[in-house]
Amino acid sequence: MLSREEIQQAAESVVAQYSKEQALTVRDIVAKERSVSLTIVGAAEGTLPELEEALRQALVKAGAETVHFRFRSGEAVPGSGTNSAATGAGATAGGGKASSAGQGPIRGHGAGLEANTLLQAGSGVHFIAVASGKGGVGKSTVTVNLAVALARKGKRVGIIDADIYGFSVPDMMGIEERPEIINERVIPIEKFGVRVMSMGFFVEDNAPIVWRGPMLGKMLRNFFAEIEWGELDYLLLDLPPGTGDVALDVHQLIPQSKEIIVTTPHATAAFVAARAGAMAIKTEHEIIGIIENMSYYVSKNGDIEYVFGRGGGARLAESLNSELLAQIPLGAPDNLATEPDFAPSVYKADTETGQIYLDIADSVISKCEQ
Ligand SMILES: Nc1ncnc2c1ncn2[C@@H]1O[C@H](COP(=O)(O)OP(=O)(O)OP(=O)(O)O)[C@@H](O)[C@H]1O
Ligand SMILES: [Mg+2]
Repeated sequence: MLSREEIQQAAESVVAQYSKEQALTVRDIVAKERSVSLTIVGAAEGTLPELEEALRQALVKAGAETVHFRFRSGEAVPGSGTNSAATGAGATAGGGKASSAGQGPIRGHGAGLEANTLLQAGSGVHFIAVASGKGGVGKSTVTVNLAVALARKGKRVGIIDADIYGFSVPDMMGIEERPEIINERVIPIEKFGVRVMSMGFFVEDNAPIVWRGPMLGKMLRNFFAEIEWGELDYLLLDLPPGTGDVALDVHQLIPQSKEIIVTTPHATAAFVAARAGAMAIKTEHEIIGIIENMSYYVSKNGDIEYVFGRGGGARLAESLNSELLAQIPLGAPDNLATEPDFAPSVYKADTETGQIYLDIADSVISKCEQ
Protein backbone atom coordinates (compact mmCIF):
# COMPACT_ATOMS: atom_id res chain seq x y z
CA MET A 1 0.00 0.00 0.00
CA LEU A 2 1.18 3.47 -0.86
CA SER A 3 1.78 5.50 2.30
CA ARG A 4 0.59 9.05 2.76
CA GLU A 5 4.20 10.10 3.31
CA GLU A 6 5.21 8.65 -0.07
CA ILE A 7 2.31 10.42 -1.77
CA GLN A 8 3.13 13.63 -0.01
CA GLN A 9 6.78 13.45 -1.06
CA ALA A 10 5.91 12.75 -4.69
CA ALA A 11 3.35 15.58 -4.81
CA GLU A 12 5.62 18.05 -3.05
CA SER A 13 8.49 17.44 -5.42
CA VAL A 14 6.25 18.46 -8.31
CA VAL A 15 4.58 21.32 -6.50
CA ALA A 16 7.96 22.78 -5.58
CA GLN A 17 8.73 23.27 -9.27
CA TYR A 18 5.55 25.28 -9.75
CA SER A 19 5.82 27.34 -6.59
CA LYS A 20 7.98 30.20 -7.78
CA GLU A 21 5.15 32.55 -8.67
CA GLN A 22 2.31 31.02 -6.69
CA ALA A 23 1.90 29.71 -3.15
CA LEU A 24 0.81 26.10 -3.57
CA THR A 25 -0.31 23.81 -0.79
CA VAL A 26 -0.85 20.05 -0.87
CA ARG A 27 -3.72 19.01 1.35
CA ASP A 28 -6.22 16.33 2.30
CA ILE A 29 -4.28 13.34 1.08
CA VAL A 30 -6.39 10.21 1.18
CA ALA A 31 -4.93 6.89 0.12
CA LYS A 32 -6.85 3.69 -0.17
CA GLU A 33 -4.71 0.88 -1.41
CA ARG A 34 -3.41 2.31 -4.69
CA SER A 35 -6.12 4.87 -5.18
CA VAL A 36 -5.03 8.35 -4.19
CA SER A 37 -6.83 11.65 -3.85
CA LEU A 38 -5.46 15.00 -2.82
CA THR A 39 -6.14 18.71 -2.97
CA ILE A 40 -3.87 21.38 -4.37
CA VAL A 41 -4.65 24.85 -3.12
CA GLY A 42 -3.60 28.04 -4.83
CA ALA A 43 -2.84 26.92 -8.38
CA ALA A 44 -3.38 29.54 -11.09
CA GLU A 45 -5.81 28.55 -13.87
CA GLY A 46 -3.18 28.77 -16.58
CA THR A 47 -0.84 26.23 -15.04
CA LEU A 48 -3.52 23.67 -14.13
CA PRO A 49 -3.34 21.16 -17.02
CA GLU A 50 0.43 21.04 -16.93
CA LEU A 51 0.58 20.80 -13.14
CA GLU A 52 -2.05 18.07 -13.09
CA GLU A 53 -0.21 16.01 -15.66
CA ALA A 54 3.11 16.40 -13.83
CA LEU A 55 1.47 15.39 -10.52
CA ARG A 56 -0.21 12.41 -12.11
CA GLN A 57 3.03 11.17 -13.59
CA ALA A 58 4.89 11.57 -10.30
CA LEU A 59 2.18 9.73 -8.31
CA VAL A 60 1.90 6.89 -10.80
CA LYS A 61 5.67 6.56 -10.67
CA ALA A 62 5.40 6.37 -6.88
CA GLY A 63 2.98 3.46 -7.24
CA ALA A 64 -0.51 4.98 -7.49
CA GLU A 65 -3.00 3.32 -9.80
CA THR A 66 -5.78 5.88 -9.85
CA VAL A 67 -5.37 9.52 -8.88
CA HIS A 68 -8.02 12.15 -8.16
CA PHE A 69 -7.16 15.81 -7.80
CA ARG A 70 -9.10 18.70 -6.48
CA PHE A 71 -7.81 22.13 -7.28
CA ARG A 72 -8.89 25.01 -5.10
CA SER A 73 -7.95 28.61 -5.56
CA GLY A 74 -7.80 31.52 -3.21
CA GLU A 75 -7.49 29.61 0.06
CA ALA A 76 -3.72 29.42 0.22
CA VAL A 77 -2.25 31.41 3.04
CA PRO A 78 0.23 34.11 2.05
CA GLY A 79 3.75 32.97 2.66
CA SER A 80 2.72 29.39 3.31
CA GLY A 81 4.68 28.24 0.27
CA THR A 82 4.70 24.50 -0.23
CA ASN A 83 3.29 23.33 3.03
CA SER A 84 3.44 19.63 3.53
CA ALA A 85 0.18 17.87 4.26
CA ALA A 86 1.43 16.83 7.68
CA THR A 87 2.36 20.29 8.85
CA GLY A 88 0.21 22.33 6.48
CA ALA A 89 -2.92 22.42 8.55
CA GLY A 90 -1.04 23.59 11.61
CA ALA A 91 0.92 26.16 9.68
CA THR A 92 -2.18 27.64 8.15
CA ALA A 93 -3.81 28.34 11.50
CA GLY A 94 -5.71 31.56 11.27
CA GLY A 95 -5.77 31.42 7.50
CA GLY A 96 -8.82 31.23 5.35
CA LYS A 97 -11.99 33.22 5.56
CA ALA A 98 -14.25 33.47 8.53
CA SER A 99 -17.45 31.56 7.95
CA SER A 100 -20.64 33.28 7.02
CA ALA A 101 -22.16 31.92 10.23
CA GLY A 102 -20.06 34.41 12.14
CA GLN A 103 -17.55 32.00 13.65
CA GLY A 104 -13.95 33.06 13.60
CA PRO A 105 -11.54 31.15 11.45
CA ILE A 106 -11.02 27.61 12.68
CA ARG A 107 -7.51 27.16 13.93
CA GLY A 108 -5.00 24.34 13.92
CA HIS A 109 -6.13 21.15 12.25
CA GLY A 110 -9.44 22.73 11.42
CA ALA A 111 -7.94 25.49 9.29
CA GLY A 112 -9.56 25.52 5.89
CA LEU A 113 -12.72 23.80 7.13
CA GLU A 114 -14.59 27.05 7.72
CA ALA A 115 -16.94 26.37 4.85
CA ASN A 116 -17.65 22.78 5.94
CA THR A 117 -21.41 22.65 6.21
CA LEU A 118 -21.50 20.26 9.16
CA LEU A 119 -19.20 22.41 11.26
CA GLN A 120 -21.04 25.69 10.67
CA ALA A 121 -22.55 27.04 13.85
CA GLY A 122 -25.99 27.09 12.23
CA SER A 123 -25.78 23.58 10.74
CA GLY A 124 -28.27 22.20 13.25
CA VAL A 125 -26.03 19.17 13.88
CA HIS A 126 -25.64 18.27 17.53
CA PHE A 127 -22.12 17.05 18.24
CA ILE A 128 -21.65 14.79 21.23
CA ALA A 129 -18.19 13.58 22.24
CA VAL A 130 -18.16 10.52 24.47
CA ALA A 131 -15.22 10.73 26.86
CA SER A 132 -13.78 9.04 29.92
CA GLY A 133 -10.68 9.30 32.05
CA LYS A 134 -9.90 5.61 32.01
CA GLY A 135 -9.81 3.12 29.18
CA GLY A 136 -12.14 0.19 28.97
CA VAL A 137 -15.09 1.70 30.82
CA GLY A 138 -17.42 1.42 27.84
CA LYS A 139 -17.14 4.64 25.81
CA SER A 140 -17.34 2.83 22.51
CA THR A 141 -20.20 0.62 23.68
CA VAL A 142 -22.09 3.71 24.88
CA THR A 143 -21.36 5.66 21.67
CA VAL A 144 -22.58 2.85 19.46
CA ASN A 145 -25.73 2.10 21.47
CA LEU A 146 -26.67 5.72 22.02
CA ALA A 147 -26.27 6.33 18.28
CA VAL A 148 -28.45 3.34 17.45
CA ALA A 149 -31.03 4.44 20.03
CA LEU A 150 -31.16 7.96 18.54
CA ALA A 151 -31.65 6.39 15.11
CA ARG A 152 -34.43 4.20 16.55
CA LYS A 153 -36.05 7.47 17.67
CA GLY A 154 -36.00 8.64 14.07
CA LYS A 155 -32.94 10.86 14.20
CA ARG A 156 -30.32 11.07 11.46
CA VAL A 157 -27.15 9.97 13.21
CA GLY A 158 -23.45 9.59 12.47
CA ILE A 159 -20.51 8.24 14.44
CA ILE A 160 -16.92 9.36 14.10
CA ASP A 161 -14.69 6.73 15.65
CA ALA A 162 -12.13 9.26 16.84
CA ASP A 163 -10.07 6.58 18.54
CA ILE A 164 -7.69 6.57 15.61
CA TYR A 165 -5.30 3.98 17.03
CA GLY A 166 -7.74 1.91 19.00
CA PHE A 167 -10.76 2.00 16.68
CA SER A 168 -13.42 -0.49 17.64
CA VAL A 169 -16.73 0.83 16.32
CA PRO A 170 -16.83 -1.20 13.07
CA ASP A 171 -16.27 -4.47 14.95
CA MET A 172 -18.78 -3.62 17.65
CA MET A 173 -21.45 -2.89 15.06
CA GLY A 174 -20.57 -5.92 12.97
CA ILE A 175 -19.54 -3.84 9.95
CA GLU A 176 -17.45 -5.79 7.50
CA GLU A 177 -17.71 -3.76 4.33
CA ARG A 178 -15.50 -0.85 3.35
CA PRO A 179 -16.72 2.59 2.29
CA GLU A 180 -17.17 3.50 -1.33
CA ILE A 181 -15.68 6.61 -2.84
CA ILE A 182 -18.11 8.49 -5.06
CA ASN A 183 -17.17 11.76 -6.76
CA GLU A 184 -14.01 11.83 -4.67
CA ARG A 185 -15.94 11.73 -1.41
CA VAL A 186 -15.93 8.84 1.03
CA ILE A 187 -19.41 7.50 1.78
CA PRO A 188 -19.85 6.42 5.42
CA ILE A 189 -21.06 2.88 6.06
CA GLU A 190 -24.63 2.80 7.30
CA LYS A 191 -25.78 0.17 9.79
CA PHE A 192 -28.86 0.22 12.03
CA GLY A 193 -29.58 3.64 10.52
CA VAL A 194 -26.26 5.06 11.76
CA ARG A 195 -23.59 6.39 9.39
CA VAL A 196 -20.16 5.32 10.57
CA MET A 197 -16.65 6.49 9.79
CA SER A 198 -13.62 4.85 11.35
CA MET A 199 -9.92 4.54 10.75
CA GLY A 200 -10.62 0.82 10.87
CA PHE A 201 -12.04 1.05 7.35
CA PHE A 202 -8.67 2.10 5.97
CA VAL A 203 -6.37 -0.27 7.80
CA GLU A 204 -5.51 -3.59 6.27
CA ASP A 205 -5.67 -6.77 8.32
CA ASN A 206 -5.80 -5.01 11.66
CA ALA A 207 -2.26 -3.67 11.15
CA PRO A 208 -1.12 -1.31 13.90
CA ILE A 209 -1.19 2.38 13.10
CA VAL A 210 2.12 4.12 13.63
CA TRP A 211 1.33 7.72 12.86
CA ARG A 212 2.64 10.37 15.12
CA GLY A 213 0.64 13.01 16.96
CA PRO A 214 0.11 15.54 14.16
CA MET A 215 -1.37 12.87 11.90
CA LEU A 216 -4.13 12.16 14.42
CA GLY A 217 -5.45 15.68 14.09
CA LYS A 218 -5.15 15.47 10.32
CA MET A 219 -7.23 12.32 10.32
CA LEU A 220 -9.92 13.85 12.45
CA ARG A 221 -9.97 16.76 10.06
CA ASN A 222 -10.29 14.40 7.10
CA PHE A 223 -13.29 12.81 8.77
CA PHE A 224 -15.02 16.10 8.09
CA ALA A 225 -13.34 17.30 4.91
CA GLU A 226 -13.45 14.07 2.92
CA ILE A 227 -16.62 12.38 4.09
CA GLU A 228 -20.05 12.67 2.50
CA TRP A 229 -22.08 12.72 5.70
CA GLY A 230 -25.27 14.01 4.16
CA GLU A 231 -27.75 15.63 6.53
CA LEU A 232 -27.41 14.75 10.18
CA ASP A 233 -29.16 15.59 13.44
CA TYR A 234 -26.52 14.04 15.68
CA LEU A 235 -22.85 13.27 15.19
CA LEU A 236 -21.32 11.26 18.02
CA LEU A 237 -17.57 11.09 18.53
CA ASP A 238 -16.09 8.08 20.27
CA LEU A 239 -12.96 9.53 21.88
CA PRO A 240 -9.87 7.59 22.90
CA PRO A 241 -9.41 7.23 26.67
CA GLY A 242 -7.91 10.08 28.64
CA THR A 243 -7.51 13.77 28.10
CA GLY A 244 -4.96 13.81 25.32
CA ASP A 245 -4.45 15.43 21.96
CA VAL A 246 -7.61 14.12 20.36
CA ALA A 247 -9.80 15.77 22.98
CA LEU A 248 -8.02 19.04 22.26
CA ASP A 249 -8.37 18.56 18.53
CA VAL A 250 -12.10 17.99 19.00
CA HIS A 251 -12.29 21.23 20.89
CA GLN A 252 -10.50 23.11 18.12
CA LEU A 253 -12.53 21.58 15.35
CA ILE A 254 -15.90 21.54 17.08
CA PRO A 255 -16.03 24.11 19.87
CA GLN A 256 -19.80 23.65 19.98
CA SER A 257 -19.50 19.94 20.83
CA LYS A 258 -21.18 18.68 23.98
CA GLU A 259 -19.89 15.79 26.05
CA ILE A 260 -21.08 12.67 27.76
CA ILE A 261 -18.72 11.20 30.32
CA VAL A 262 -18.67 7.47 30.93
CA THR A 263 -17.46 5.90 34.15
CA THR A 264 -17.82 2.67 36.09
CA PRO A 265 -19.27 2.81 39.60
CA HIS A 266 -15.87 2.30 41.19
CA ALA A 267 -14.60 5.30 43.15
CA THR A 268 -11.23 5.30 41.41
CA ALA A 269 -12.77 5.19 37.96
CA ALA A 270 -15.04 8.08 38.82
CA PHE A 271 -12.09 10.01 40.22
CA VAL A 272 -10.14 9.54 37.00
CA ALA A 273 -13.23 10.36 34.95
CA ALA A 274 -13.42 13.66 36.81
CA ARG A 275 -10.29 14.66 34.91
CA ALA A 276 -12.10 14.20 31.61
CA GLY A 277 -14.90 16.28 33.12
CA ALA A 278 -12.48 19.00 34.16
CA MET A 279 -11.11 19.03 30.64
CA ALA A 280 -14.62 19.43 29.23
CA ILE A 281 -15.18 22.35 31.57
CA LYS A 282 -11.84 23.92 30.64
CA THR A 283 -12.60 23.65 26.96
CA GLU A 284 -16.11 24.98 27.64
CA HIS A 285 -17.87 21.92 26.33
CA GLU A 286 -21.23 21.50 27.97
CA ILE A 287 -21.48 18.18 29.79
CA ILE A 288 -24.83 16.64 28.89
CA GLY A 289 -24.47 14.10 31.65
CA ILE A 290 -22.72 11.08 33.10
CA ILE A 291 -23.38 7.47 32.15
CA GLU A 292 -22.39 4.89 34.71
CA ASN A 293 -21.62 1.64 32.93
CA MET A 294 -21.20 -1.85 34.40
CA SER A 295 -23.19 -0.58 37.38
CA TYR A 296 -24.57 -3.87 38.63
CA TYR A 297 -25.15 -7.45 37.71
CA VAL A 298 -28.53 -9.12 37.86
CA SER A 299 -27.97 -12.74 38.81
CA LYS A 300 -30.13 -15.60 37.55
CA ASN A 301 -32.36 -15.49 40.63
CA GLY A 302 -32.89 -11.77 40.18
CA ASP A 303 -30.50 -10.52 42.88
CA ILE A 304 -28.63 -7.35 42.13
CA GLU A 305 -24.90 -7.49 42.76
CA TYR A 306 -22.75 -4.37 42.72
CA VAL A 307 -19.68 -6.04 41.32
CA PHE A 308 -17.59 -2.89 40.85
CA GLY A 309 -18.81 -0.95 43.88
CA ARG A 310 -21.44 1.75 44.00
CA GLY A 311 -21.92 5.44 43.70
CA GLY A 312 -19.12 6.47 41.32
CA GLY A 313 -21.46 7.88 38.70
CA ALA A 314 -23.61 9.85 41.13
CA ARG A 315 -20.55 11.33 42.83
CA LEU A 316 -19.02 12.29 39.52
CA ALA A 317 -22.26 13.92 38.39
CA GLU A 318 -22.34 15.91 41.60
CA SER A 319 -18.73 17.03 41.38
CA LEU A 320 -19.22 18.16 37.77
CA ASN A 321 -22.53 19.77 38.57
CA SER A 322 -24.12 17.52 36.01
CA GLU A 323 -26.68 14.75 35.89
CA LEU A 324 -26.40 10.97 36.10
CA LEU A 325 -28.21 10.01 32.90
CA ALA A 326 -28.29 6.26 33.43
CA GLN A 327 -26.84 3.22 35.11
CA ILE A 328 -26.23 0.37 32.70
CA PRO A 329 -25.98 -3.17 34.02
CA LEU A 330 -23.23 -5.65 33.26
CA GLY A 331 -24.06 -8.04 30.48
CA ALA A 332 -23.12 -8.36 26.85
CA PRO A 333 -25.93 -8.34 24.26
CA ASP A 334 -27.42 -11.74 23.75
CA ASN A 335 -26.92 -11.67 19.98
CA LEU A 336 -26.22 -14.73 17.87
CA ALA A 337 -23.44 -14.66 15.30
CA THR A 338 -25.70 -16.57 12.95
CA GLU A 339 -28.51 -14.02 12.91
CA PRO A 340 -28.78 -11.49 10.08
CA ASP A 341 -27.33 -8.08 10.90
CA PHE A 342 -25.29 -9.53 13.75
CA ALA A 343 -23.49 -6.94 15.87
CA PRO A 344 -21.58 -8.11 18.94
CA SER A 345 -22.15 -4.93 20.96
CA VAL A 346 -25.53 -3.56 19.90
CA TYR A 347 -28.37 -4.23 22.35
CA LYS A 348 -31.73 -4.94 20.74
CA ALA A 349 -34.46 -2.39 21.36
CA ASP A 350 -36.64 -4.87 23.25
CA THR A 351 -34.00 -5.85 25.81
CA GLU A 352 -33.63 -4.22 29.21
CA THR A 353 -30.35 -2.52 28.30
CA GLY A 354 -31.71 -1.59 24.88
CA GLN A 355 -34.57 0.19 26.66
CA ILE A 356 -32.13 2.04 28.94
CA TYR A 357 -30.36 3.36 25.87
CA LEU A 358 -33.71 4.50 24.41
CA ASP A 359 -34.33 6.40 27.65
CA ILE A 360 -30.87 7.99 27.42
CA ALA A 361 -31.68 8.98 23.84
CA ASP A 362 -34.85 10.71 25.10
CA SER A 363 -32.84 12.67 27.70
CA VAL A 364 -30.22 13.62 25.12
CA ILE A 365 -32.87 14.77 22.66
CA SER A 366 -34.63 16.89 25.25
CA LYS A 367 -31.35 18.43 26.42
CA CYS A 368 -30.10 19.17 22.91
CA GLU A 369 -33.33 20.20 21.23
CA GLN A 370 -35.20 22.02 23.95
N1 LIG B 1 -22.34 -3.01 30.36
C1 LIG B 1 -21.43 -3.89 29.94
N2 LIG B 1 -21.51 -5.18 30.29
C2 LIG B 1 -20.59 -6.08 29.87
N3 LIG B 1 -19.54 -5.77 29.10
C3 LIG B 1 -19.41 -4.48 28.73
C4 LIG B 1 -20.34 -3.47 29.11
N4 LIG B 1 -19.95 -2.30 28.57
C5 LIG B 1 -18.83 -2.57 27.89
N5 LIG B 1 -18.49 -3.87 27.97
C6 LIG B 1 -17.32 -4.53 27.39
O1 LIG B 1 -16.18 -3.99 28.01
C7 LIG B 1 -15.12 -3.83 27.08
C8 LIG B 1 -14.71 -2.36 27.03
O2 LIG B 1 -15.79 -1.61 26.49
P1 LIG B 1 -15.52 -0.47 25.43
O3 LIG B 1 -14.59 -0.94 24.38
O4 LIG B 1 -16.84 0.06 25.03
O5 LIG B 1 -14.77 0.56 26.36
P2 LIG B 1 -13.94 1.86 25.95
O6 LIG B 1 -14.07 2.79 27.09
O7 LIG B 1 -14.37 2.34 24.63
O8 LIG B 1 -12.50 1.26 25.85
P3 LIG B 1 -11.20 1.99 25.25
O9 LIG B 1 -10.78 2.95 26.30
O10 LIG B 1 -10.25 0.86 25.06
O11 LIG B 1 -11.62 2.66 23.99
C9 LIG B 1 -15.64 -4.35 25.77
O12 LIG B 1 -15.24 -5.67 25.61
C10 LIG B 1 -17.15 -4.26 25.92
O13 LIG B 1 -17.83 -5.21 25.14
MG1 LIG C 1 -13.24 2.70 22.89
